[in-house]
Amino acid sequence: MAISSSNNKVAVVTGSSSGIGYETSLMLARNGFITYATMRNLNKSENIKFNAGRDNLPVRLAQLDVTDDVSIKNAVQAVLSETDKLDVLVNNAGYVLEGAFEHLSMNELKEQYETNVFRMIRTTQAVLPIMRKSGTIVNISSVAGKFGYPGGSTYVSTKFAVEGLSESMAYELEPCGIKVIIIEPGVIRTNIFNIVVVAKNSKDPNSPYTQTTQKMASAFEELMKNSSSSPELVAKVVLEAVTSDNPYLRYLAGKDAETWLDAKRNMTDEKFYEMMKQNLM
Ligand SMILES: NC(=O)c1ccc[n+]([C@@H]2O[C@H](COP(=O)([O-])OP(=O)(O)OC[C@H]3O[C@@H](n4cnc5c(N)ncnc54)[C@H](OP(=O)(O)O)[C@@H]3O)[C@@H](O)[C@H]2O)c1
Repeated sequence: MAISSSNNKVAVVTGSSSGIGYETSLMLARNGFITYATMRNLNKSENIKFNAGRDNLPVRLAQLDVTDDVSIKNAVQAVLSETDKLDVLVNNAGYVLEGAFEHLSMNELKEQYETNVFRMIRTTQAVLPIMRKSGTIVNISSVAGKFGYPGGSTYVSTKFAVEGLSESMAYELEPCGIKVIIIEPGVIRTNIFNIVVVAKNSKDPNSPYTQTTQKMASAFEELMKNSSSSPELVAKVVLEAVTSDNPYLRYLAGKDAETWLDAKRNMTDEKFYEMMKQNLM
């Protein structure tokens, strides 16, 4: 049965079991959005259920595995049958594949693209016909959508893809009343680096890249340890973007994101490359 949603906007967030998706779902709900916190495994919904229940927030749960067309279709159908509309989609679900380029298997590459890129295409295509006259698509990219680093060729290239897709979509969708927003977080304290998928062949200690990838992994560990950016900070940026009448195309999230991208803007490619080598390797 349709619940009353005439005065409240309806948002769908993918990957809400933890981190940025979890906080974004709560943040949107706290600010009046009827929010569908979707996740591939509803067994991970206890925390969000508890918080939403305690604070009486309009959070609803739906199973959605972004790599599964049927799951996407069912989730969108459930939202429509309950609320009759969908105003905001936050494409957030994602993970990091790490490993030297030479060692990446096609299956590992395809899985990373499946979740980080094709997911965004699948879920967005599923909601556009519903948003025909108004709506907002938020794509969680990364500062890694702006520059590469050793061991990150796949993850980085998925985020470059998110940037290119989003920017092109923005032109097409604006005349339909649909806004596209790209969020570029820096290093945010979530679980993402604890569950990094390391390419199988990259684990060989005799690989010529072992030293480089190990240094990179330690550099990331340090960055994560020292990061002052929480997932709530990203959620606030998402809220600011989706409640603005004239949102920007891109929003940075985190002090380090600003530092990285200032450096990128103000340096030649060669200088930036040298700076990265010195800092990360
Ligand atoms: N943390 C950072 O430093 C950082 C920086 C820049 C950008 N980002 C981006 O922010 C987004 C969220 O990451 P996070 O840091 O919040 O990490 P996280 O805490 O690990 O959360 C990732 C979420 O994505 C979900 N997910 C993964 N594969 C999925 C699939 N096939 N279908 C549905 N959900 C799936 C996970 O679900 P399960 O619990 O089921 O695994 C989890 O809910 C990602 O797109 C990431 O690239 C993060």
